[in-house]
Amino acid sequence: MLINVSHNSYNNTHAGSMMLRFFILFSLLVHACVAAPKTPAAARAVPAKKWLTLSGKEPGVVARGGFSGLFPESSATANDLAISASSPGLTLLCSLQMTKDGAGICLSDIRLDNATTISTLFPKGQKTYKVNGQTLNGWFALDYSADTIFSNVSLVQNIYSRPSIFDGQMAIAAVEEVLESKPPKFWLSVQYDAFYMEHKLSPAEYLRSLRFRGINIISSPEIGFLKSIGKDARKAKTKLIFEFKDPEANEPTTNKKYSEILLNLAAIKSFATGIIVPKDYIWSLDSAKYLKPASTIVTDAHKAGLEVYASGFANDLSTSYNYSYDPSAEYLQFVDNGQFSVDGFITDFPPTASQAITCFAHQKRNLPKIGSTLVITHNGASGDYPGCTDMAYQKAVDDGADVIDCSVQMSKDGMAFCLASADLIPTTTAATTLMSRATTVPEIQSKNGIFSFDLTWTEIQSLKPQIQSPFSTSGGFQRNPANKNAGKFMTLADFLKFSKAKTVTGVLINIQNAAYLASKKGLGIVDAVKSALTNSKLDKKVLIQSDDSSVLDSFKAVPKYTRVLSIDKEIGDAPKPTIEEIKKHADAVNILRSSLVTISQSFATGKTKVVEEMHKGNISVYVSVMRNEYLSITFDYFSDPTVELATFIAGNGVDGVITEFPATATRYLRSPCSDLNRDLPFAILPADAGTLISVAAKEAQPPASAPNPPLDAKDVIDPPLPPVANLATNNASGGSPPGSRRSGSIATTANLSLSFMAMLALRLLLCAAA
Ligand SMILES: *[C@@H]1O[C@H](CO)[C@@H](O)[C@H](O)[C@H]1NC(C)=O
Ligand SMILES: *[C@@H]1O[C@H](CO)[C@@H](O)[C@H](O)[C@H]1NC(C)=O
Ligand SMILES: *[C@@H]1O[C@H](CO)[C@@H](O)[C@H](O)[C@H]1NC(C)=O
Ligand SMILES: *[C@@H]1O[C@H](CO)[C@@H](O)[C@H](O)[C@H]1NC(C)=O
Ligand SMILES: *[C@@H]1O[C@H](CO)[C@@H](O)[C@H](O)[C@H]1NC(C)=O
Ligand SMILES: *[C@@H]1O[C@H](CO)[C@@H](O)[C@H](O)[C@H]1NC(C)=O
Repeated sequence: MLINVSHNSYNNTHAGSMMLRFFILFSLLVHACVAAPKTPAAARAVPAKKWLTLSGKEPGVVARGGFSGLFPESSATANDLAISASSPGLTLLCSLQMTKDGAGICLSDIRLDNATTISTLFPKGQKTYKVNGQTLNGWFALDYSADTIFSNVSLVQNIYSRPSIFDGQMAIAAVEEVLESKPPKFWLSVQYDAFYMEHKLSPAEYLRSLRFRGINIISSPEIGFLKSIGKDARKAKTKLIFEFKDPEANEPTTNKKYSEILLNLAAIKSFATGIIVPKDYIWSLDSAKYLKPASTIVTDAHKAGLEVYASGFANDLSTSYNYSYDPSAEYLQFVDNGQFSVDGFITDFPPTASQAITCFAHQKRNLPKIGSTLVITHNGASGDYPGCTDMAYQKAVDDGADVIDCSVQMSKDGMAFCLASADLIPTTTAATTLMSRATTVPEIQSKNGIFSFDLTWTEIQSLKPQIQSPFSTSGGFQRNPANKNAGKFMTLADFLKFSKAKTVTGVLINIQNAAYLASKKGLGIVDAVKSALTNSKLDKKVLIQSDDSSVLDSFKAVPKYTRVLSIDKEIGDAPKPTIEEIKKHADAVNILRSSLVTISQSFATGKTKVVEEMHKGNISVYVSVMRNEYLSITFDYFSDPTVELATFIAGNGVDGVITEFPATATRYLRSPCSDLNRDLPFAILPADAGTLISVAAKEAQPPASAPNPPLDAKDVIDPPLPPVANLATNNASGGSPPGSRRSGSIATTANLSLSFMAMLALRLLLCAAA
């Protein structure tokens, strides 16, 4: 029996019209950018790529339930956004469940309560069924008529790390409805044929009633089902794909374990043209969550003439440390490893998969970056190695950073060295051996710490560096634990020597607590920096950064230095008098992400004018801190660090990004997809703050947060630096490096060839300004 379901959509909510608005908005966005001024040769300049897929063609992207990483699975909005935000030729995957009266709906869990409001509508509707030998409790589609499901039940997000503000507003999709929307390709996943057949519902009959029309691919983990539809599928030119489940689970038709079926791939070829495998069939993880060498399954399957689709991809899942929390890195591991390429991905975040395939695969590491945006590190590549160590800096160089940074700290005996903070607890092993030396210094931080200026350089060197994992308190999210204590501390002099020998275009020297160190500890950090720079004879760009305008003023005599004022509090505006004041002290500012895009409950709610205002005053803007962990990335950026970069670079027009993962930033900037002036079928578009929340019903939207206060001109001005006090007690042990106590004279001997920062090049396009 087949129910006509084509009239049911959205007639009981506003979701329909809202969805439509969003879709139109998004389409506009895409077209505005792609149709922007063209470089005619650009598209042709992209060389044809050789893929190690079965066909030699580009791997496919299959959206599991549309863009289910953002919206409830298979909702019209999820499907529309998947198509408009991914590269052309996307395949939409719908997972078939059947209603009591034989209608087909798209939901991956056989229990409706997993992703719908059914349990609140029918509090007593819970049942128990045996599904392929397993006893399951819940609300099952086959107990409800299509009419009930379509008119009264709505979708909710079933994965807790994803937005819930769209819950209860979107209708469950009927298979026919998705087909009618004519996606580029349509894939139907039939998970439970045996179960539905036991209950007198036949997925095969249902498919015949549709005449397989518009269905490009059908997959199933059940051999019997695939065989039963083989003839019809061949006639309809629908491809059949066999899905592997957990290796230890039993395949319902043969009752053999999937691991056993895997041993005879040739046999699969008789009833399917390809296979789906969970991604860890290909790249599995060891117990420490590092990648083991790849299995041979892809090459074996290709030899047997089978395509291989890898499943289980999402930007918000915990994966291997080898990927540095960058979802694009994971996709590339499967398609661009030099050995093999899967034929497609089944993913909850299809734009990210498209991006990896279209924009990043086969990228040469030495490609020039597009535009003039600087990639500046934050404590070196501190996402991969303990910050400010030789290893973090080397990784940053290898990853193509333009500018590597040293936050200068002083030891008690006057050694200037690089470390994230004066407090050694976050980034060294000090807490395990030197806790007795902890003190409280309210001028520096409210909580107690073990401060570098209370320890000699010898004592500091007895410690080990320690990687900082900013999101570890949220459970997991450690950074590279295998290298937790790797690397060596670097003195400022060594850092400059290192920078001189490497390909980086410049260094950023960050100076904090100068007044405190001078007056209370007798340590002249400004002079230490000046003499180190002079002694290094570094012939590269030098950025001097401080939150203290007086520190910046003391470098004014060297016009080649770019002075960077760091503004560590959230600001909402930079009025003209403030700009004029900043201009007296600095050429650039380092500001927080939230001073450019305001965030509420992980949604981007608005965009400030701070970049435009700074640019009007010829002040460059660097934004910090960019991190890969999806917890630090708003939903609007698709939980993808690359889209965040695109938003700040192509959208806001910043002059530099300050990042703990320079590899992610340089890969984006080297990709033709970052150049919105090119005529490419797929570009990495900036997110438009406020668009995503506007899809949700008004009452579900997070409350508008009060705008950040403007930056006051007064806040920019700091008191003059006090002279360096002469304290005899400093020299408990260890030497006093030359220059560390001298005060006064400017390092006039410096002769560095430094060109003034090029101003904004990436002109904002229509889409960015929208
Ligand atoms: C729904 O099912 C998925 C996959 O089995 C599971 O991860 C998720 O926690 C479930 N959600 C709910 C709300 O039951
Ligand atoms: C849907 O809900 C309304 C009111 O809550 C009820 O009158 C109607 O019978 C329900 N429809 C179905 C098909 O259950
Ligand atoms: C993953 O990282 C570990 C530790 O750095 C390394 O030993 C291993 O070779 C990496 N695996 C792959 C496949 O790159
Ligand atoms: C900014 O710089 C440009 C070129 O260097 C110059 O023409 C312009 O007057 C400057 N504007 C301000 C406000 O300083
Ligand atoms: C500082 O310490 C070094 C090494 O212990 C010593 O040679 C030097 O004389 C000391 N200087 C002062 C001023 O105490
Ligand atoms: C500065 O450097 C340039 C180029 O290296 C050199 O020609 C010039 O003589 C130097 N000037 C001084 C004052 O050292």
